[in-house]
Amino acid sequence: MARILVVGGGSREHALGVGLAASAGGAASPGGHELLFAPGNAGTLALGRNVAVSASDVPALVALAEREAVDLVVVGPELPLTLGLVDALSAKGIRAFGPTRAAARLEGSKAFMKDICERAGVPTAAYAVFDDADAAKAHVRSAGRPLVVKADGLCAGKGVVVASTVDEACDAIDRMLLRGELGDAGRVVVLEELLPGEEASFHVVCDGTRAIPLAAAQDHKRVFDGDRGPNTGGMGAYAPAPIVTPQVAAEVMTAIVTPTLRAMADAGAPFRGVLFVGLMIDAGKPRVLEFNVRFGDPETTVLVPMLDGDWFALLDGAARGDLSGFEAETRPGAALAVVMAAERYPASPATGDPIEGLDAPTPPGTCVYHAGTKRDGGAIVTAGGRVLTVGARAATLAEARDAAYAVVARIRWRGEHHRSDIGHRALG
Ligand code: AMP
Ligand code: GLY
Repeated sequence: MARILVVGGGSREHALGVGLAASAGGAASPGGHELLFAPGNAGTLALGRNVAVSASDVPALVALAEREAVDLVVVGPELPLTLGLVDALSAKGIRAFGPTRAAARLEGSKAFMKDICERAGVPTAAYAVFDDADAAKAHVRSAGRPLVVKADGLCAGKGVVVASTVDEACDAIDRMLLRGELGDAGRVVVLEELLPGEEASFHVVCDGTRAIPLAAAQDHKRVFDGDRGPNTGGMGAYAPAPIVTPQVAAEVMTAIVTPTLRAMADAGAPFRGVLFVGLMIDAGKPRVLEFNVRFGDPETTVLVPMLDGDWFALLDGAARGDLSGFEAETRPGAALAVVMAAERYPASPATGDPIEGLDAPTPPGTCVYHAGTKRDGGAIVTAGGRVLTVGARAATLAEARDAAYAVVARIRWRGEHHRSDIGHRALG
């Protein structure tokens, strides 16, 4: 039995809480783990206590972990990792799941990430780094084709412009380097060649040297059916993703994960935590689009039910730096999850709308993970852009889809919208 603080308040943290509660000694068994969430959401209240501390307030999170004498802190989002939460906890002798500030630069600085890939010989898009707008635009013009323009730092998903013309790429460069529209995060840009192919989300849990792969997943980034409309944080996910064949998965481990972990250790920043490899796969060849240093959201809602293993042992083993005794398999069947979003998400989501249909028990194999929700008196109301993620696991992907959408159909609020084609790449 352990006391665990989960940092964050999305469907990722709710799903990790569900995984931890189901683990040996978890809250689902007598004398199980005790879970705290900072800040959590209306769904995590069913698993433990919510504490009103922001997921990016490092000093307050350290004080909370000390006051509550927690055994393990599981950090969900990237921002506190890049701000050094794990370093600050370690300095107080508190064990934490997630990379140090130095290792979190794999997500926090795209220039650092490309440098590590180059040193490690990891396949990724060709690139160049600029802090001068004229030099950057000259590079685009001499390339003679549109490039992908990426702000170096964290921009909550707004820092990548996949330009379709040379002018659009130059305009993105001006907005970042000349007009400072993305602040410090956009003072340096990475220009990348456009990679063709299909994307997948490949997660490995790492203890510094070893890496445990989880089920390969696929996200749906655009807001509307048929992959149309603006980019979002993710509108739904499923696993396993058939584009990641056993051969592709093996190549990701040998050509990407192993050399990256070695290069990070050589750079004095051994990687502990979860490395989320954003892949582009073209004709069976995987290349890295990006590294994230935390679990994907909504991917986590399909990764948790697909792991036939103990979530506490996995996260605690990574945090201790020793996963040598950890054994897990991917479960048979498939999992699929549908994000239910608020009116006007992703532009300017409406909040405060009461949610109906949450009271009925969900069928076996399904789960309603909360994201932007909060309790308001007796009601549960919307409190963010992505409000709920409805997940299901079943013997086949089609059954998981049907089970998830049957639950989606019972839940409603004013302005709710979701995609109706999650899993289309695998289901046809
Ligand atoms: P990132 O945050 O780097 O993953 O970029 C966000 C999205 O932009 C990715 O999920 C891809 O859809 C797209 N993207 C980023 N880099 C490239 C690239 N080099 N080629 C094609 N698409 C890209
Ligand atoms: N769903 C993509 C991400 O978490 O970055």
